[in-house]
Amino acid sequence: MAAKARIGVLGAGLMGHGIAQVFALAGHDVSIYDPVAASLAQVRSRIAANLRDLGDDEAAAERVQPCAEMAAAVRDADFVVEAAPEDLELKRKLFREAETYVRHDTILASNTSVIPITAIMQDLRERSRALGTHWWNPPFLVPLVEVIGTQWTSRAAIDWTMVLHAAAGKKPAHVKKDVPGFIGNRLQHALWREAVALVEHGICDAETVDTVIKAAFGRRLAVLGPLENADLVGTDLTLAIHKTVLPAIDSRPTPSPYLEKLVAEGKLGFKSGQGFRTWTPEQQAALRRKVVEHLKKARADDT
Ligand SMILES: NC(=O)c1ccc[n+]([C@@H]2O[C@H](COP(=O)([O-])OP(=O)(O)OC[C@H]3O[C@@H](n4cnc5c(N)ncnc54)[C@H](O)[C@@H]3O)[C@@H](O)[C@H]2O)c1
Repeated sequence: MAAKARIGVLGAGLMGHGIAQVFALAGHDVSIYDPVAASLAQVRSRIAANLRDLGDDEAAAERVQPCAEMAAAVRDADFVVEAAPEDLELKRKLFREAETYVRHDTILASNTSVIPITAIMQDLRERSRALGTHWWNPPFLVPLVEVIGTQWTSRAAIDWTMVLHAAAGKKPAHVKKDVPGFIGNRLQHALWREAVALVEHGICDAETVDTVIKAAFGRRLAVLGPLENADLVGTDLTLAIHKTVLPAIDSRPTPSPYLEKLVAEGKLGFKSGQGFRTWTPEQQAALRRKVVEHLKKARADDT
């Protein structure tokens, strides 16, 4: 990989601007396309503000070139990453169009949260250069990027993408099969399913679920993964625990009726002020701030 690559980003929203920021800070030239003029107009100032807040080099924002036409953003790119809305047809259309402008060896990546990469990339002429790069929010504070290959993706495209992201300070993880939810969201939502079920079945309230996680194994999770933990306590103990616990925990293949009811009643969480719990605007702002401060401290500890 060249020390300085040309990166094209499609979509200048929450994820797109943050991804552009990471690549620009790593020294790459970034072009970013968004059909919504308001998103595009603020992308540089948004990135500069983030960089200032993080104590990073604010001049990196100047390496981000906003483009009102997709062709201008991707034509010379070595790597194109899409962060447009989570809509399969929209993403398929975007990549079909992008493929008409890019070089034959440009790598094309989608930052979809959960849509299989195979479904998004199936219409491309050169599917060996298409893959997924799943970032986490905010992209400049959460290190992981899942790199997802399809049955068509070449090993060279995966390797190049892994090196690109590692060199930009990210922690790339190779997902060898294009399964829904990849790795991170499968693990995360296995936990959320049981969290909802505990409330649904009256075992505890929502606040208690969160307290138990944050005050117990959540404390260790950043330094001790579940399989490290299983080895630490012993696979024999893990087996014994699973024999008792697995038959008792939720394994329904559909969303909880409790969650369905919340949504049907308009209890959408922060958006409506009530979800599993009630949230004043001050409580919402305080929680958001706490998360960002925690992530900033973790980033500082990493360096
Ligand atoms: N928000 C998250 O925490 C998160 C985390 C990981 C992945 N993702 C995924 O990243 C993608 C983007 O999510 P987001 O949260 O940044 O959304 P967002 O709504 O903040 O940004 C989407 C941007 O895409 C633009 N857009 C609309 N139509 C477009 C088009 N045809 N071409 C290019 N851009 C277009 C919009 O104007 C907007 O600026 C989604 O697929 C989402 O699932 C989101």
